[in-house]
Amino acid sequence: MASENSIVINGNQFSFAPGDTILEVAHRNSIDIPTLCYLKGATPTGACRMCVVEVKGARSLVASCAAPTAPNMIVQTETAKVVEARRMVLQLLLSSGNHNCAVCGSTADNWTEFQLKVQQAEEGTELCPVWGDCRLQDLAFRYQVTGERFEATETPYPMETANPFIMRDFSRCIQCGRCVQACNEVQVNQAINFGFRGAATKIIAAGDRAYINSDCVFCGECVQACPVGALVEKDSRYEARPWETRKVRTTCSYCGVGCQLYLHVKDNQVVKVSGVEDVAPNFGSLCVKGRFGFDFIHSPDRLKTPMIKKNGSLREATWDEALDLVARKLGDIKSEHGSDSIGMLTSARISNEENYIAQKFVRAVLETNNVDHCARL
Ligand code: FES
Repeated sequence: MASENSIVINGNQFSFAPGDTILEVAHRNSIDIPTLCYLKGATPTGACRMCVVEVKGARSLVASCAAPTAPNMIVQTETAKVVEARRMVLQLLLSSGNHNCAVCGSTADNWTEFQLKVQQAEEGTELCPVWGDCRLQDLAFRYQVTGERFEATETPYPMETANPFIMRDFSRCIQCGRCVQACNEVQVNQAINFGFRGAATKIIAAGDRAYINSDCVFCGECVQACPVGALVEKDSRYEARPWETRKVRTTCSYCGVGCQLYLHVKDNQVVKVSGVEDVAPNFGSLCVKGRFGFDFIHSPDRLKTPMIKKNGSLREATWDEALDLVARKLGDIKSEHGSDSIGMLTSARISNEENYIAQKFVRAVLETNNVDHCARL
């Protein structure tokens, strides 16, 4: 029996806090309600209708992501009516654009022809770049639907490739609006929004310009929020399937904020970077450098050993050799010109511990207070 500040979901009673939505209470209690447009932390839009549930006494199905809880509410999350509504949503989405992972049934005689057509348009070697990592595909499988029920409609917009970081494939966009919310509400860049109307609706930047000519700062928040293959990292596209990579959690090395990120590693090579969600300080967000600036890791130009300059040219040296040389030179300068003739600049890109050791070395060994850091080093 429900009571004040509690609701009943699928026959079980759960408490809620004022302002909680049905979806929040359900997820908090490990009740799976599928979503597509819902973006944690952003204003719910109720756009996709994937999260609908039955609420006793309500005249129609309710979008649980946008519906606030109320005392004595009785909710069912997976009734026949709910499942049928979700199947319909999926069928409509699958018949709009290139969702070729599940658009045709196994009996469709145009399957190969369709695949080839999509492959040609994609300029890629495989089909959907996020096959196996797509929310729409997962839900199509879960509810066993294809896009055969409704006549297929094509997207009138070509793929946008004109920037170094992000591919925008409008034919795979389901217009859930998560990218718009990620840009406007999470990153507060306000670079993209919905444009045009009806069947011509499109996510646009700066009055329908390419990202590169807009206010986009290429933080990639939209890519991380995209539940399908509409927004994909350019460099990692077709580099690896999700099951081929292992995710290594680490701390971004670009500044002192300490953003948490995952390195997606295939065959010992980093192929992609994503933000770790639900964890401070960045809660999944990254900047352009943290998300896309990882090519230096495998650069052949990267220094891997100390270098010593002699007679105007650099040669590789061992660490012992390099450290001995630096120690000797610092000692010579100190005894000849005094401690205050030496200073050290450290970096905002190293850890607190490394900066601590650096200042300790300067004060205790070099005997000077000339230590600072430079944010650009
Ligand atoms: Fe609730 Fe889209 S997830 S309407």
